[in-house]
Order: sequence, then structure tokens, then C-alpha cells
Amino acid sequence: MSNNKLTTSWGAPVGDNQNSITAGSRGPTLLQDVHLLEKLAHFNRERVPERVVHAKGGGAHGYFEVTNDVSKYTKAKVFNGVGKRTPLFIRFSTVAGENGSADTVRDPRGFAVKFYTEEGNYDIVGNNTPVFFIRDAIKFPDFIHTQKRHPQTHLKNPTAIWDFWSHSPESLHQVTWLMGDRGIPATWRHMHGYGSHTFKWVNAEGEGVWIKYHFRTEQGVKCITNEVAAQLAGENPDYHTEDLFNAIEKGDFPAWKLYVQIMPLEDANTYRFDPFDVTKIWSQKDYPLIEVGRMVLDRNPENYFAEVEQATFSPGTLVPGVDVSPDKMLQGRLFAYHDAHRYRVGANHQALPINRAKVEVNNYQRDGQMRFDNNGGSSVYYEPNSFGGPTESAEAKIAPFAVTGLAESVAYDHNDHYTQAGDLYRLMSEEERARLVDTIVGAMKPVESDEIKLRQIGHFYKADPEYGTRIAQGLGLEVPAEVLA
Ligand code: HEM
Repeated sequence: MSNNKLTTSWGAPVGDNQNSITAGSRGPTLLQDVHLLEKLAHFNRERVPERVVHAKGGGAHGYFEVTNDVSKYTKAKVFNGVGKRTPLFIRFSTVAGENGSADTVRDPRGFAVKFYTEEGNYDIVGNNTPVFFIRDAIKFPDFIHTQKRHPQTHLKNPTAIWDFWSHSPESLHQVTWLMGDRGIPATWRHMHGYGSHTFKWVNAEGEGVWIKYHFRTEQGVKCITNEVAAQLAGENPDYHTEDLFNAIEKGDFPAWKLYVQIMPLEDANTYRFDPFDVTKIWSQKDYPLIEVGRMVLDRNPENYFAEVEQATFSPGTLVPGVDVSPDKMLQGRLFAYHDAHRYRVGANHQALPINRAKVEVNNYQRDGQMRFDNNGGSSVYYEPNSFGGPTESAEAKIAPFAVTGLAESVAYDHNDHYTQAGDLYRLMSEEERARLVDTIVGAMKPVESDEIKLRQIGHFYKADPEYGTRIAQGLGLEVPAEVLA
């Protein structure tokens, strides 16, 4: 940079960057113009595959500050020591649309946070909703297919969406949430974030608790209507991306308070539903929010591709003091993310500046495409060894836990898909219910099968008879007799 000389990618000065080498001014271009060849070839390789879900998004840097002593629950250093600050990077996203799709669609929003802690990176890869559509990873590829485009028409396909949901009643809670006011946040700054799954915290004595994360926006929750969202999608498809960038640029730093709900381990055996089922919320009356700290976003990325596109988050990126739960979705996600990263970014994605831990990374992994650091130099490259190579830390082992049962393909024991969806409906004001019904009716109208509509109406009815009846009326159908019986 210093002498401002244009160079090739191998550092040699470029003689002419405006005219290719041709045989005379009208002659064909010569293959010997290596600078031209390199320029065109590199351009062809500018894209990496977009994320298979959550492709459209934006990110920011910031910090997390501990505001409450939770050391009796977790030994994770990031959450210990009131006043301690840990740098972080966050990425917000929509789920279904491609990179370049509109920000203001009705969709959950990704809320992925990477804490660069003193014990290595810790990622919370959550959404702006506390629950999810399904509760077993084995259904995820099918579910996402219904959210993507039809293989022939390449259009979004409401029939597939409602067919899948009507066959998967566990989705009802999340569907009610999504079709309600919070389904379209005004901006990324005006929404809460959730870890959604149950995780385990473990303290220095090895004692564990089950927890759920809640990031609560200090900007207040604000949502927009279908009409405003549709207008913005046309006028400024990057509305949320721009809003976050501009807010940070002008020093209006958005902030969230982080809370946890804490459940004693033994309660999981007796709670009225399975606390590992990600389609359910834990009552805050049973398990109130306990403050942990505050997240502030105060710096925009310098380069979108290097920082936002190449960022790789995984719910399996854990530090000592945080562990997983038996949630069947979470267990599948532990495989899915780094596998996606190896495909999308490469085997050495964790060495890229945005992903690299801010502590020394010491292991016996070597080589691979684009190994751009010193690859461990001449240090010992296997273990066990007699040459003083890095060794394990017994205190970082997982806290042991008992497992019992038959190994089989089996669902959760609890099958009540209706109570919490109905509770959410009953919590809404009459205006909110009217907007919810309007949105669902609008979304279901294009479904090409009355059978699918009726099956789904049955689910709404079971959540709350008024809910089901209003959707049926809106669609000009009767609530099916077998549901009324
Ligand atoms: C992104 C898989 C469920 C939140 C992704 C990606 C994959 C994936 C492959 C793209 C990763 C990349 O290329 O970097 C799955 C599977 C799931 C699942 C297999 C279920 C078994 C969930 C749930 C949540 C969630 C329940 C939220 C609670 C996210 C977020 C991103 C993401 C926020 C974007 C991360 C980023 O900003 O880079 N998911 N997902 N996913 N997923 Fe999931």
C-alpha cells in the first residue's frame, strides 16, 4: 500500500491495467498477457457457496460485559468476573432466502454470536425466536426443502410449506409465533435473541444445571406490518443490513442484556414436558430470568466478505463450563455446522482472522487447502510424543452424565403440540389475533389442496377453538368434524 503501486497478486508492478496485450490495436488478445489471465481467472472464483440456510445477513463487532456473578453455575470464564469484557462478532440473517433476498420478509432471524474468550471461542448460534419448527435433526433437510424453491417452477411453494407443517404438528408453536407480529422485526436492533436449545452449564466443582439463553434488546421490540414490509422489500431489500451499519456508523450502538433461565438437572425428569424439546419454552414463573451481562455492538466490519461471509459459527464451538443437552436438534447441529464450513469455506476455516481464537491454538492438525499460517512449523506433529508437544487439560473434560434406555429410533415421550401454541394465541390482544389470522389466511390461500388446509385447521383448532374457527372462516372452509368431536 505504502507506495501505492498496482501489483499483480505475486507482487510485481503492473505495466498496464486498462489495455490488454493484443497483436496490434485490432489484433487478437495474446495468451501471454498473464496479468489479464490472472485477473479474469480470479474474478471467476470470487464467490464461495452461500450458506445453505441463513444466506442473507449482516454482522458487527462488539463486546460482552459481565454484570452479574454466575460463577456458582458456570466456570466459563467469559461469564465470570463482573466487569470483564470479551470481544465478540455477531451475524444476523434471514433463514430461507438466498444471499441478496429481501431483509423484511416474514421469517425467523438468525442471531449468531461468537465470543472470543480467554479459553477459546464460544458460539451461541440462535434465532430471534425461543422455539423451532421441528425437534429432531432428521427432519431438518425436508423442512428446509419446503422453505426453498420448487424444483420445476423455481418459485416459493406454499403448498409444500403447509403440507409439511400440517404433517408436523410440533411446528404449530413456532408457526403461531412466526405468523404473529414478531415474525417481521422492524430492524435487527429491535428484536430479542435466544439460544433456543437447552444447554448445560457446569461450575468449578463439576456441578451442572440446564440453562436457556435470552438476549433482550435494550432498543425495545419493534415489528412492522405485512404492508410496510412488502413496501420496504421493494424499495430497499437491504433495509436491515443498512439500518445496523448506519446505527453503528453514527455511534448509536445497539445493546442487549443477556439472561439465563436455570433448571436444576433433576427437574428435567419431572417437568410437565420434556425440557430438551426445542418446540417448547420453559415458563418464566418456574424458571425466572437471571441476568448475566450486556452485549454492545460498536464496530462495523471493515470488509464484508472477509468478516461476514467467511464467519463460521457452530453450536459445537464450546468452552469449558458450557456443555450440550440431549436435545435431538442440537445433537444433529453439532455435526452440521463445521461440516458446512469445511464445504463452504474450507478445512482451515477456523484459522481465518474472523474465526481464529484470540488465544494460542495448539493442536496436531496439519496441512489442508489454503493452510496460510506456519502450519505448526517444525514442531512435533503427532501425539503422544516425547518432544514436549501440547497436552490435554483434565479439568476441561466434560462433566460425566448417566444415560439409560434402548437404542432405537424414537420420538420424545411428550406429545402435546397444542398447549403452548394455544397459550401464545390467548396471550395476544384482539388486534394481534386479527393480524395473525389475516396473515395465516393470506399465506394458506394459495395452498393447492383443501386436504392440507383442513389438516392444518385441525391443528389450529386443537390449540384454541377460536383460533381454528377463525382460520377456517377466513379460508371459507368448515372445521373438520373429527376435530370437533
Ligand atoms: C446456519 C444447519 C437448526 C440457527 C446453518 C447452516 C447450516 C445449518 C448447515 C449454514 C452454516 C454455514 O454455512 O456457515 C442446521 C441444522 C439444524 C439447524 C441441520 C437442525 C438440526 C437451527 C436452529 C437454529 C439455527 C434450531 C436456532 C436456534 C442458525 C443460524 C445460522 C444457521 C443463526 C446462521 C449462522 C451464521 O450467521 O453464519 N444452519 N440448522 N439453526 N443456523 Fe442452523
